[in-house]
Amino acid sequence: MRWGLLTLAVLAAGCGGSSSAKDFGEELFQDARLSESQFNSFSCSTCHADTATPEASRILSGYTLHNSAFRPSWWGGYETNLLDAVNFCYVNFMRGVSPLAPEDPKSRALYEYLVSISPDTEAPALPFTVVKDIGDIPRGNATRGAEVYRAACQTCHGETHSGKGRLTELASILPEVTDSYGSIFPGVPKQLVVIEKVRHGQFFGVGGSMPLYSREALSDEDLGALLAFLGL
Ligand code: HEC
Ligand code: HEC
Repeated sequence: MRWGLLTLAVLAAGCGGSSSAKDFGEELFQDARLSESQFNSFSCSTCHADTATPEASRILSGYTLHNSAFRPSWWGGYETNLLDAVNFCYVNFMRGVSPLAPEDPKSRALYEYLVSISPDTEAPALPFTVVKDIGDIPRGNATRGAEVYRAACQTCHGETHSGKGRLTELASILPEVTDSYGSIFPGVPKQLVVIEKVRHGQFFGVGGSMPLYSREALSDEDLGALLAFLGL
């Protein structure tokens, strides 16, 4: 119902200014129903802030999209077209069946919204370093690890040991889920499986919808603290 009204709003915007398209884009940014997949619970705002200074209490896998519209490239230079950069998230994390097409009113609305939060048209591209080779890392301070868990993992996975408050039941309960890793990944120490998951989002390139954390998003130090907190 609300969705239908919003669609009308964006069509009406086609004849007038772009402010309604921008508002529709902001709604889409926060709405998991942007993706038609029944398995998706993520909205853009699950992983991206849209303010100039993101909240310090959250560690998000994606950068703030403030000033994102005019960057010369995205995804550390892998993407040179803004819609492709968005579609990478839409297809891989939000399980969109096919990429948003340029002429889709939803693409246009998202674009208008991203432009509206991008006052700096000369904003530089941002670094994005994927950790290629997974190896063990030193354990850190468990108290810091608890903070990292709350800031980075809890929104999706809920509380440790119970999953209480998790965004989706697809997000397994940590750290208990790792108890089965000995039989699923024989010979691979279970902490390495967790590091692999966090650094690549997918298990050894196989699947899943969890985002990957670059070095810029999550330092090895914080990841080591998180492992200590999880008792891994
Ligand atoms: C599950 C988490 C997740 C969701 C959901 C998600 N993204 Fe992303 N997005 C990422 C990650 C991780 C990156 C790579 C790090 C980065 O560049 O911000 C990224 C990158 C991007 C970039 C490139 C930023 C840059 O300068 O490199 C854009 C633009 C973007 N996302 C837009 C969107 C939009 C719009 C949506 C909603 C349609 C969305 N994302 C949904 C995680 C997500
Ligand atoms: C945007 C939501 C989201 C965030 C943030 C997130 N996860 Fe996940 N995670 C998921 C989902 C959904 C799954 C199940 C699908 C998959 O495997 O990708 C998952 C799966 C996992 C798994 C594999 C569980 C299994 O079934 O074997 C591990 C390990 C994991 N996450 C650890 C973490 C840790 C540690 C963090 C914080 C650094 C984190 N996740 C942050 C959504 C998230």
